[in-house]
Amino acid sequence: MSRQYKDSRRKILCAGVFAGIIIIVLLIVLIVIATKDPDCSPSEKKGPKDNTMPITVEDSYGQIDGQNVKRYTLTNNNNVEVKIIDYGGIITKVMVPDNQGVPGDIVLGFADIEGYKTNAPYLGALIGRYANRIANGTFSIDGTTYTLAINNGPNALHGGTKGFDKRVWQSSISEGKLVLTYVSADMEEGYPGEVTATVTYQLTNTNELIIDYSAATTKSTVINLTNHAYFNLQGEGSGDVLEHLAQVNADSYLPVDDTSIPTGVITPVQGTVMDLRTKRKLADVIDQVPGDHGYDHNYCFGKTGWVKNMARVEDPSSGRYVEAHSTEPGMQFYTAYWNNVTGKGGKHYGQYSGFCLETQHYPDSPNKPDFPTVVLAPGETYRQTTTYKFGTSS
Ligand SMILES: *[C@@H]1O[C@H](CO)[C@@H](O)[C@H](O)[C@H]1NC(C)=O
Ligand SMILES: *[C@@H]1O[C@H](CO)[C@@H](O)[C@H](O)[C@H]1NC(C)=O
Ligand SMILES: *[C@@H]1O[C@H](CO)[C@@H](O)[C@H](O)[C@H]1NC(C)=O
Repeated sequence: MSRQYKDSRRKILCAGVFAGIIIIVLLIVLIVIATKDPDCSPSEKKGPKDNTMPITVEDSYGQIDGQNVKRYTLTNNNNVEVKIIDYGGIITKVMVPDNQGVPGDIVLGFADIEGYKTNAPYLGALIGRYANRIANGTFSIDGTTYTLAINNGPNALHGGTKGFDKRVWQSSISEGKLVLTYVSADMEEGYPGEVTATVTYQLTNTNELIIDYSAATTKSTVINLTNHAYFNLQGEGSGDVLEHLAQVNADSYLPVDDTSIPTGVITPVQGTVMDLRTKRKLADVIDQVPGDHGYDHNYCFGKTGWVKNMARVEDPSSGRYVEAHSTEPGMQFYTAYWNNVTGKGGKHYGQYSGFCLETQHYPDSPNKPDFPTVVLAPGETYRQTTTYKFGTSS
């Protein structure tokens, strides 16, 4: 074998190995590109495959009714942090980085457990057994009339004088979720049936706070569970939210009477100040909302059962946004006209200091046969899922 032949064989071998390496590198690059999430905004990083993040617990946040209140902390890979107490399932804190990466607390709340004992605006709380108003505090099921505590003008509001928001729930951590359970006795606050309600909170690495609700009853009753978080994307206590841009993807809403009970007419938003299908700056529209106290209206999304992309509110100055997605038929858009309390940092929360995206059944449904039903019968399971998605747009 000539030396020349040997050399050229070596050259071919080398070229082959070199080409092989190039192909392997190309393949790796292709795999990396293919597995990258195209929807990933700059503030989102991919976390562990199962999307389950650790939850920590502090044993004493204070005492209520002689019971110890625990506080849970949910965190993810993007420096989002959510704190929840088992009293009222209250979301006390949501830290979200702004478009410069600086974290800010975007939910209204109180400094400590004392503030939450009264909590007139229901800041961050789970509301039940029946969120919102029932006209004149009365309803009938199967010919029996039930009478509730009247705690809001002539109406019953948010489950009574001691609703689910004022109870300590049983709490545990399971499969990356905080699980809260409350058993509401038969005739508690005037409602029939023993109701077992379970709410889970989960924070994902795509910055979604997923709230899952379920409930069962021993007698036919009415049920409507929600969470009453107030957001201010500039940071709680930073003033009003009038520079926020609001978008609500609904074609119709429910006009209300002067005690905030819907007249029952599902009304198109088209051509009115209620039309938020294209985002609008709140400062430009809020003074024209009927009733003269800003938005406090139910938007209609049709039937229950599938997840609807309901709303997105963004704050141009921080770049933060929050979206609400839910299986519920309605969403109350409330811009906190009535707020007048001192918040966490000692700052005053006044008019328009936050906004709520309360996913829900339509108000006063027990007295409105045309609205989607809110009656839960024994053997049935009430279920709803609401997701708040946080992020920044640059
Ligand atoms: C509530 O009660 C008042 C007075 O009895 C009555 O006029 C009104 O129609 C009732 N409202 C509803 C929504 O049933
Ligand atoms: C807010 O509350 C304070 C004290 O609780 C009261 O003096 C003040 O008038 C209230 N402001 C409004 C706008 O209702
Ligand atoms: C359920 O509660 C939400 C939140 O308060 C409220 O806006 C909605 O109108 C309620 N639904 C019914 C059927 O009353």
